[in-house]
Amino acid sequence: MTLHSAFAADIRDSLSDPDLFREAALIDGAWIARADMEVSNPATGGALGHMPDCTADETTQAIAAAEAAMVEWKKKTHAERADLLMAWYQLMLDHADDLALILTAEQGKPLAEAKGEILYGASFMRWFAEEARRINGHIIPSPVPGKKIFAMKEPVGVCAIITPWNFPNAMITRKVAPGLAAGCTMVIKPSDFTPYSALALCVLAERAGIPKGVLNVLTGRPEEIGATLTASPVVRKLSFTGSTRVGALLAEQCAPTLKKMSLELGGNAPFIVFDDADLDAAVEGAMASKFRNGGQTCVCANRILVQSGIHDAFVAVLAARVDALKVAAGTEAGAEIGPMINAAALEKISAHVEDALARGATRATASRDLPEQFADPMVLTGATPEMRLASEETFGPVAPIFRFETEEEALAIANGTPFGLAAYFYTTDMARAFRFGEALEAGLVGLNTGAVSHAEAPFGGVKSSGLGREGAQEGIEEYLETKAFHFAGL
Ligand code: SIN
Repeated sequence: MTLHSAFAADIRDSLSDPDLFREAALIDGAWIARADMEVSNPATGGALGHMPDCTADETTQAIAAAEAAMVEWKKKTHAERADLLMAWYQLMLDHADDLALILTAEQGKPLAEAKGEILYGASFMRWFAEEARRINGHIIPSPVPGKKIFAMKEPVGVCAIITPWNFPNAMITRKVAPGLAAGCTMVIKPSDFTPYSALALCVLAERAGIPKGVLNVLTGRPEEIGATLTASPVVRKLSFTGSTRVGALLAEQCAPTLKKMSLELGGNAPFIVFDDADLDAAVEGAMASKFRNGGQTCVCANRILVQSGIHDAFVAVLAARVDALKVAAGTEAGAEIGPMINAAALEKISAHVEDALARGATRATASRDLPEQFADPMVLTGATPEMRLASEETFGPVAPIFRFETEEEALAIANGTPFGLAAYFYTTDMARAFRFGEALEAGLVGLNTGAVSHAEAPFGGVKSSGLGREGAQEGIEEYLETKAFHFAGL
């Protein structure tokens, strides 16, 4: 069996361990290599490799394999599962450079950032390996003599994991690590744009000793696989990261079998800079939040609100920083913004920019002549609520600046969206810090920071941004059920 196509030769030649690059699906421990579909290299638009387009039958086989594997997996002690996760974590660290290269090749982000994602992804392995040993129930005093009530934690069952292209490594580990720690088994459907990071992770899982069938990976188009996963009564939980539109559709498809669901959906993050903010820190935070992954994250600042007194200074410093960004293929030394994922993403970004300029926005950064796979990073001033970029996620390196006068006005704009994933604000007034932070309608709030993603912190949104939390102590609860065990006759 050959696990790679001629197209994949380049990437395989660059890896220290070429076996990590698989053009195959994984079902019940068997690697199924087929070249049904092409996967593109976003930096060139050319082919990177191929993958199977898994069928409904294969999806059913993967679900059956996960169900069978769960019998033994959930019997393992928590410490045994923790040890396997730690072994997997260590292999991720040992192969971080190769994993980063695969990630950059399929997703486009600069290599240094890809390496950062591998370490971020690995941090979930470590965190949930540690948490595995703290899945405690509790004992409830009974109202009836001679009886005790135990609240016991049990794994929810076979889980379907549907992950996006923007973080092809970390969005898998953030779901799989708590699920495995809890005693669940998994069927993973990575994005059809970025299957190889998921497959490389599972090669390492195999090497770590995670038994066959515990992790299955289905590559290909999402419709048939998604419909089979959501319709299956064996699948007891679905965890999805992606758009609100698809999340709502999956919720509808899961309704007849009443699955537990975690949905990490779209955002429209406000990033608010008050007059009393530390200017340099605010610019630093805006750069980190807005331009991470070229602006292709759900928690990216989508609307930058700046109070009048600091507006011009903030725009000047931010524009200079954006003009200095190096836009290049992710593998090029010093690249800071890579290509966008595909043509549809580029079209949306252009449409937002054209709409904003037509409605009176002004460009504060120089324009550059870039190859067609790249978006021009920019700062736009004079943004208003009527513009498309005020109500839709741009998902690209465009920083629109909205000027505001009062705290009340900023709050109304910030909360004036159906989304509620992340929100950021910069102030040195501690009374305002509390007041404003509490009033923001968001699952994640960053005060004087543009970074809100850590394995230790609960991650998730309110309103149309989703259901449930990932990471932190909360993250493992999503993969557990509580059984009330009434113990009488004592
Ligand atoms: C996302 O964009 O979906 C996740 C970003 C993160 O984990 O920070």
